[in-house]
Amino acid sequence: MRVVILPSELEVSDFAAKLICEFISHKENAVLGLATGSSTVLTYKVLIEQCKKEQISFKKVSTFNLDEYIGLEPNHTQSYRHYMDSELFNHIDINKKNTHIPECFNNEFALSCNNYESMINNHGGIDIQVLGIGTNGHIGFNEPTSSLNSRTRVKTLSENTIKNNSRFFDKTEIQPKLAITMGIGTIMEAKQIILLGLGKHKSKAIADTIEGPITSFCPGSILQQHSDVVVVIDEHAASELKLYDYYIHTENMHQWKISF
Ligand code: GLP
Repeated sequence: MRVVILPSELEVSDFAAKLICEFISHKENAVLGLATGSSTVLTYKVLIEQCKKEQISFKKVSTFNLDEYIGLEPNHTQSYRHYMDSELFNHIDINKKNTHIPECFNNEFALSCNNYESMINNHGGIDIQVLGIGTNGHIGFNEPTSSLNSRTRVKTLSENTIKNNSRFFDKTEIQPKLAITMGIGTIMEAKQIILLGLGKHKSKAIADTIEGPITSFCPGSILQQHSDVVVVIDEHAASELKLYDYYIHTENMHQWKISF
C-alpha cells in the first residue's frame, strides 16, 4: 500500500483529484468507481474546477457508484443518486447515461445486483475505485463480517452506520436500514483503489485497515491484498498509525525518485 499523509483536507482532496485527472488524461474512456459521503465532497469539487478550466473532460468517462440506499426515490435528497448529481455530475461534462448507481427502487434486488456486476464487466472493469471508510472499517456498505469475497448484494446496515449517517437525515424522515452495495470481491477487482480518510474519528479504522490483521471484522483491511492501493489521509486520520514516520519517509523517497 502507498500511504500518503498530508496536512489538510484540501491537500488530501487535491492529491486524490490529481491522480484521477492524470489517469483520465491518458485514458479518456476511463471507468471510475465512485463513493459518496463527506470524505469525497472536496475531491469532487476539485474535479469540477479542473473540468471547468478544461483541464479534463468526462465526456467519455463511465462511472459506477459503490452503493445506494433501498427505499429512497432517486430524487430524494439523501439518495446517493441525488448526492452524485448535485456534488459532481451536474457540474461536469459527463453523459449521465454513463453514470451508474445500483438500482434500488424496484423489488427485483437480486436482478439489479446481477445486472450491476454484468454492466461493470461489460465496461471492462473499474480502472480507479475511490473509497471512503466507515468508522467501523466498512467500505461501500460492506459492514464488519461481510464476506471478503462478496459480490454486489443487499446489505443490512449496522447500528453504527445508521447512527453515523443520521446526521444527513431530518428527524421526520425515515432513514433506510438496507442498501445495495458492491461486494468486497467486486471492489477488489478494480485495477487501482484510492482510499480517502479525513479526521480523527477515522484514525482507528485507518490503522486497522493499513496495519491490522486482514479480517472481515474490518472490511477495509482486505485492501492489504490489493497490489495497487493509494491511501490518502490527513494527519488526524493517520494519528494511530504505528509506522507513521516510515510512511512520511517513504513518500519523501517516492518524490525524490520521481524527480530524477
Ligand atoms: C457511507 C458510505 C461509504 C462511505 C462511508 C464514509 O456510509 N456508504 O461509501 O465511504 O460511509 O462516509 P464519510 O465519508 O461521510 O465519513
